[in-house]
Amino acid sequence: MKGIVLAGGSGTRLYPLTYAVSKQILPVYNKPLIYYPLSVLMLGGIRDILIISSPRHLGTFRDLLGDGGQLGLNIEYAEQSAPNGIAEAFVIGAEFIDDDPVTLILGDNIFHGPGFGRLLQAEARDVDGCVLFGYAVGDPERYGIGEVDGAGRLVSLVEKPASPRSNLAVTGLYVYGNDVVDVAKNVRPSHRGELEITDVNRVYLAQDRARMVNLGRGFAWLDTGTHDSLLQASQFVQTLEQRQGVRIACLEEISFRMGFIDAAACHELGSRLGKTDYGAYLMEIADQG
Ligand code: TTP
Repeated sequence: MKGIVLAGGSGTRLYPLTYAVSKQILPVYNKPLIYYPLSVLMLGGIRDILIISSPRHLGTFRDLLGDGGQLGLNIEYAEQSAPNGIAEAFVIGAEFIDDDPVTLILGDNIFHGPGFGRLLQAEARDVDGCVLFGYAVGDPERYGIGEVDGAGRLVSLVEKPASPRSNLAVTGLYVYGNDVVDVAKNVRPSHRGELEITDVNRVYLAQDRARMVNLGRGFAWLDTGTHDSLLQASQFVQTLEQRQGVRIACLEEISFRMGFIDAAACHELGSRLGKTDYGAYLMEIADQG
């Protein structure tokens, strides 16, 4: 399974924060936003990861994450010349995806909940078609909304419905079989000029090869697109981390726990972070084994 983080976009709703820097590099409490979607792929057991961003910002992600070797990952980079739509990720990433299935996550999506890694690994195993992840929202008129039957099969998909048939929003995490590359290449740009992920998903829906998993009410799916939601996301992470004494989306810890790196490497990554609590935490979990 390959993984893609789509971290381009223009971030216009966050201006002036995003005049000069990418939205996905902004802090969410104590780490850059992109750590959160990256952590999801890693919890899913994915080690080959492509980060796609705008030509202007790609270098920042390279500076931040390098080739991923320090985390036991293989990270590659590719440019999206303009925000031409989410489905363009599969066209840009075609060579990287090669003959494998692929999981795509949007660079500004934060997920947190129990058993997420196991859930993702189970859903990604032997995927045929597509698997979407639904999250109940109070304002379905603002989202892409999916409707599922009793077996979890997707039966309808509507963008910003005036009269919603369900309250399950389609989140920014998508698992596909290898044929998604061909499906995306055949999608035509929408009236707003973008390759729409919804059009890709509709192909699978029409073939009866689309599922949607309800993440359930114990889960958090956080938005970071506006000033208020970005601050609220920081406060959410701060509250949980301080209350529980554990970290959310701590990439070094996840690498260690997933067996991508050993205790000595985890300790070394912690020591590089100097006197921060973050570094002390890494050294402590490495020493505990
Ligand atoms: P959006 O929220 O649709 O757009 P944006 O991030 O540019 O923000 P704004 O609405 O404030 O202008 O994008 C969702 C995520 O997907 C975000 O992480 C950026 C990413 N994205 C791309 O990388 N390329 C694209 O072509 C699109 C449409 C989104």
